[in-house]
Amino acid sequence: MSGRAPPIGVFDSGVGGLTVLRELRRAMPAEDFVYLGDTARLPYGTKSAETVVRYSLQCAAALVARRIRCLVVACNTASASALGALRARHPTLPVIGVIDAGAEAAVAASRKRCIAVIATEGTIAGGAYQRAIHRLAASARIEARPCPLFVAMAEEGWTQGPIVEAVAHRYLDPLFSCDDPPDALVLGCTHFPVLAPALRRVLPPSVCIVDSAATTAAAVQRQVAAGAAPGAVRGAVRWLATDGAERFARVGSIFLGEALRADAVEIIDL
Ligand code: DGL
Repeated sequence: MSGRAPPIGVFDSGVGGLTVLRELRRAMPAEDFVYLGDTARLPYGTKSAETVVRYSLQCAAALVARRIRCLVVACNTASASALGALRARHPTLPVIGVIDAGAEAAVAASRKRCIAVIATEGTIAGGAYQRAIHRLAASARIEARPCPLFVAMAEEGWTQGPIVEAVAHRYLDPLFSCDDPPDALVLGCTHFPVLAPALRRVLPPSVCIVDSAATTAAAVQRQVAAGAAPGAVRGAVRWLATDGAERFARVGSIFLGEALRADAVEIIDL
């Protein structure tokens, strides 16, 4: 990567953040990236905020040591708990999370200002989405619900079919069977976009599914525009994980939307 702008660092608890990386690469194809999946300690969504902050600081330190010029927190749970601590620890590094971008996309998509948010237990309990949406639309009505089984199904590669739809009905029907249901559903977890086609099948057609990946990519693009890499050459990605190169490559290919090779994944210790 010599002679080029330093890479953009991206981390997630595992492979879910690859849905964000996919959009980042689509928006900025010439940039180099370093992606770290903390696969040894997944999931973050069921852990305490203190633990998620500690893990996130360790992920960031590993990426900063690889000389990144911008940090993307491609994990809603980490964005919800650790953004402040990351910015305090790395005051000169631009740190961008996915929650403000998701809230922005949700408010833009909801005409009724009635928004459903699904995420991990940690993200919902911390209330970060609720606060971010209310900062943009103070009167918005928000229905928030943790959907932890969606993470397990996505990790298993079960993205469609009757089991996924049955679980989706169980989680989503209570949110949308009322008299005045939400008209937007925020996928507040980086694992959920791969389930979007199955969710579409169980949701009322009027509901707009909102994914923060594209709006996050736009925010990162604005941030790095000044030192942007020229567009002719496709940028490279360095793949890091804390456990299971084969599993990272196999499941990660689903999230990334392209084939990943296990021998390209470097296992590191945090
Ligand atoms: N990547 C996490 C998120 O976006 C979901 C998986 C986990 O719980 O670690 O919240």
